[in-house]
Amino acid sequence: MPKIEIEHGCAHGGEPYIPTPCRVIEITPQTRDVKSVRVQALDGTAPFDSKPGQTVMLSVPPFGECMFAIAARGEDWIEVACKKVGYVTERIHQLKVGDEVGVRGPFGNWFPYESCKGRDMLFIAGGIGMAPVAAFMTYVLEHREDYGRVDMVYSGSSYDDLVYKTALFEEWPKVEDTHVHVSIYHAEDGWDGPVAYTAPFLEEVIAKEGLSKDNVAVTLCGGPSLFRTCREALSELGYDPADIITTLEMRMKCGVGKCGRCNIGGKFICLDGPVFTEEELADIPRD
Ligand SMILES: Cc1cc2nc3c(=O)[nH]c(=O)nc-3n(C[C@H](O)[C@H](O)[C@H](O)COP(=O)(O)OP(=O)(O)OC[C@H]3O[C@@H](n4cnc5c(N)ncnc54)[C@H](O)[C@@H]3O)c2cc1C
Ligand code: FES
Repeated sequence: MPKIEIEHGCAHGGEPYIPTPCRVIEITPQTRDVKSVRVQALDGTAPFDSKPGQTVMLSVPPFGECMFAIAARGEDWIEVACKKVGYVTERIHQLKVGDEVGVRGPFGNWFPYESCKGRDMLFIAGGIGMAPVAAFMTYVLEHREDYGRVDMVYSGSSYDDLVYKTALFEEWPKVEDTHVHVSIYHAEDGWDGPVAYTAPFLEEVIAKEGLSKDNVAVTLCGGPSLFRTCREALSELGYDPADIITTLEMRMKCGVGKCGRCNIGGKFICLDGPVFTEEELADIPRD
């Protein structure tokens, strides 16, 4: 089985600093604090071409800009899922269809969809960590015949905290040999599915479904606690760190390796990442 190969040092190809003016064409509330925002360039085209896992800087003048995973893309739009956490994301949540925003990108590298071909695909995400994972999952399902069995393990604090519910509960489970497993962290009225944190839920799914740790590519994305506990669970179950793909989220300003905001050890996450295998991350500080 060929090794998973991830490209690094993917400098932005075009003008990195000047945003492309774009228009908001669709806004979909996902949860009480997450909205997906779809934008296109003012001439009605997509602002740029991108690959699953790449990121975009979205600006709301004069308030500022934030980095987001490109969660979805169509022929003439790109979409981000924005969680409201502070100053700029609050402004993004106030946007309306027709408003103008700025877009810089695409930044960073992408999920290794080529070298994963022929493998089973196990996606693990929590909360807003679904945004980049959804882009990879969508790519895999659009090229279904190139991959083996597909499993998505996704968790959120509550039912309301789950993003992309239509894809999760209606669209993805209908695709051949595609299995979606969802848990919430705390029991609530109206939810009769699993109640568990992501790592124990992951272990349960792997055991119940008899998932193989051979010939699999695992993609993991979520907050620090999910990240740590799922990595530990996968390690204990014997998964090879070279088969585990993660996407890191550091504070970013320039996106092109100039401002020094995003380095971990000797790596600039904006240039070298955000996508790495666990094997590649073995030597860098984990906080
Ligand atoms: C590569 C990358 C991909 C990202 N993808 C997404 C995505 O798909 N969806 C999404 O909702 N968010 C994503 N983020 C995070 C998003 O960029 C930040 O939440 C946003 O910049 C916060 O801006 P703000 O002005 O609203 O918050 P601020 O007012 O600046 O800060 C509010 C709070 O958020 C914390 N904070 C701010 N930025 C970050 C950060 N990067 N990481 C951790 N804590 C932070 C601050 O410490 C503070 O507590 C991504 C970040 C990076 C670097
Ligand atoms: S965001 Fe500026 S160096 Fe990475």
